[in-house]
Amino acid sequence: MKNSHNEIGIVGTGFYVPEKIMTNYDLEKIVDTTDEWIRTRTGIEERRIANVEEATSDLATKAGLKALQNTNIPPEEIDLLIIATHFPDYHFPSTSCITQNKLGLTNAVCFDLSAACSGSIYSLFVAESMLKNSNYNTAMIIGSEIFSRTVDWEDRDTCVLFGDGAGAIIIKKDQIGKKIISFNFGSDGSGADLLKIPAGGSKLPTSIKTLEQKQHFIKMEGKKVYKFAKKMMVDSVIQALDEVDLTRKDIDLLIPHQANIRILKAVAKKLHLPIEKIMINLEKYGNTSAASIPIALDEAISQGKINKGDIVVLTAFGAGLTWGAIVIRW
Ligand code: ACO
Repeated sequence: MKNSHNEIGIVGTGFYVPEKIMTNYDLEKIVDTTDEWIRTRTGIEERRIANVEEATSDLATKAGLKALQNTNIPPEEIDLLIIATHFPDYHFPSTSCITQNKLGLTNAVCFDLSAACSGSIYSLFVAESMLKNSNYNTAMIIGSEIFSRTVDWEDRDTCVLFGDGAGAIIIKKDQIGKKIISFNFGSDGSGADLLKIPAGGSKLPTSIKTLEQKQHFIKMEGKKVYKFAKKMMVDSVIQALDEVDLTRKDIDLLIPHQANIRILKAVAKKLHLPIEKIMINLEKYGNTSAASIPIALDEAISQGKINKGDIVVLTAFGAGLTWGAIVIRW
């Protein structure tokens, strides 16, 4: 679908990761794994772990506060807050309502969005569309995740992959540059079983049995997810570029969901992109799901990796299955 939302641009970003660092060597003491296996199979060296008092909204609040400070936008100017998370504070109320109160976003309309690791780019596009079709001027989207509470710390297949963190992006009307110029999104529910937390919802409510069977932890068919991720991120990026008559050669910086270095290298290869054009920070944080792209975007900006006029492409995949790409002219 052709689209050019010319008036709305990114005005600020911010992120927060918990202080506690868990290295691969720390994991060696918990499960049957090695630093060597984790580094060579995933690229991850360490991840952050929230402390027991921190909820998803606390991480979101800290990331949101940094974005507000970076933009000098007063909290009451935010008209819309969308939080993408797989593990909200509660089933309800939404984590965005809790975060709204903590941040003092007194005029914001709030809701959560569920699209797993694709959640932040889905949210960015939803927020942009809502601004475009309303009198709202300013929106904040936050990806915030506490994966350390939904992985089974006895399951080496999954617990080594994930980390906790939050990243925020603020968009505003009447901006010059930093605009979404194209997008491509997709979903395929036939792959829902490849990545899921089986219990705790309406299908399998919490019971002694679900707890004993560890059904509240993430279950994943890693190899199938791996193949899907490589294909869908590449297809999505190419289609989103094609919509605005751009090609992979036009990409100045690709900011992909930070899941596995081997996935990112395969994507780079298929897109014929030198690895320097791929933002990579997964070695420090692991896979932070919906938080990963906003965190990587904020770091890319602060590291001076993005210049005025650059074509920046965000792309993600996640449970659902969901995937997508957003093209931004900076
Ligand atoms: N340490 C040591 N050995 C391990 C570990 C570990 N942490 N985990 C698995 N192994 C072993 C396996 O048991 C297997 O042993 P075997 O050959 O004796 O059976 C061997 O290592 C190879 O296992 P594979 O599963 O084949 O390893 P693979 O190369 O596929 O890598 C991985 C696994 C890293 C999970 C990869 O498949 C992957 O990254 N998949 C994508 C996962 C992903 O991105 N998930 C997030 C989705 S986003 C969201 O929405 C949450």
